[in-house]
Order: sequence, then C-alpha cells, then structure tokens
Amino acid sequence: SSESVPARNIVLIGFMGSGKSTVGRELGKLLGYPIVDTDHKIEEQEGLTIPEIFSTKGEDYFRTTETKLIQSLCEEGISHHIIATGGGLPMREENRPLIRQLGYVVWLQADVDTILNRTSRNSNRPLLQTDNPRKTIEELLEKRNPVYEEVCHLRIRTSNLDIEETAHGILESA
Ligand code: S3P
Repeated sequence: SSESVPARNIVLIGFMGSGKSTVGRELGKLLGYPIVDTDHKIEEQEGLTIPEIFSTKGEDYFRTTETKLIQSLCEEGISHHIIATGGGLPMREENRPLIRQLGYVVWLQADVDTILNRTSRNSNRPLLQTDNPRKTIEELLEKRNPVYEEVCHLRIRTSNLDIEETAHGILESA
C-alpha cells in the first residue's frame, strides 16, 4: 500500500465511547502493531477492574496511576504500538506533553448521542453512573473538548463511524 508507517506510535485520545478501542484494533491490524490500552494495563497492574479501582481507591488514585503509566511508557521508549488512552488521561496538564512525546496523537471525536448510545451498553464507566448521563456527558465534553483539541495532531469525527475508513484516514495523515 502507499500508506506510510508512522515512526513511533499512534496515540488515540477522546471521550468514552468515541471508538478508541475499535479503531485501535483496526489500526493494529493494518500496521501489524500491538495495542496498548491504558485502562487494561492499569486493571492488570492493580488486579482490579476500573469500577473497582474507582470505588475502593478513588478517582485521584486512578489518575495518579494513569500518570505513572504514561511516564513509564515514555521512559521505556515504546515504539510501533497503537496506544489507546482512557478518556480522562489528557486532563492532567502534566500528562499532555507526555502524550505528544509518545507519537502521533489522534483525537476521535463523537457527539453526545453517539457517546450515550455506545456507553449505555455496559456499566463499566464509573463517571457515567449518574441520574442524568446525558447531562454528565455534556458537562464533561465542555471541559474536555478544548483539551483534546490542544493535545491532538489530528481530529477525526467518528459519529457515523466506518471503522476501516477511519483507520485508513488516520494512516493517510500520519
Ligand atoms: C474515563 C474513561 C475510561 C476510564 C475511566 C475514566 C474518563 O476510559 O479510563 O472510566 O475519565 O473519561 P475509556 O475512555 O476507554 O472508556
């Protein structure tokens, strides 16, 4: 194919339900790169699920664990991986330069309805276990979208997600 292979990693950022895991798997397949999912890494390290970490250790603990993980990925000089990040990872300011240091940063952007739809299928997102998930999503998006925008090299809208098309689009720009 005429697609060039990015030198380091492709880093996927974006809100819960924006398609990071799905698009990540497709990119991994196309490039032959393994996938690192920060949520899964943390669950493995802790021996607990994300909801268990939030309920027993608290969100601050989880955020500190995320920062340590992204620091160690930078230190080990990880390359030729697809890195799918938890939706809140860019929110700590100290994480932002680290995310960009890891590689080509792609923001997968979805609208509220799409996010609500995709995240209501399961209950593994502690932040969305509220009386009014739509309102919670809207409020979080308002804070987060400017940060995703600032951190990314490329933004792709995924509301009408064609997975293959999205992955090819990323590779053409990377
Ligand atoms: C979070 C997103 C989740 C997970 C945790 C917090 C967030 O990851 O890290 O529930 O703050 O947006 P996904 O974006 O993979 O769902």
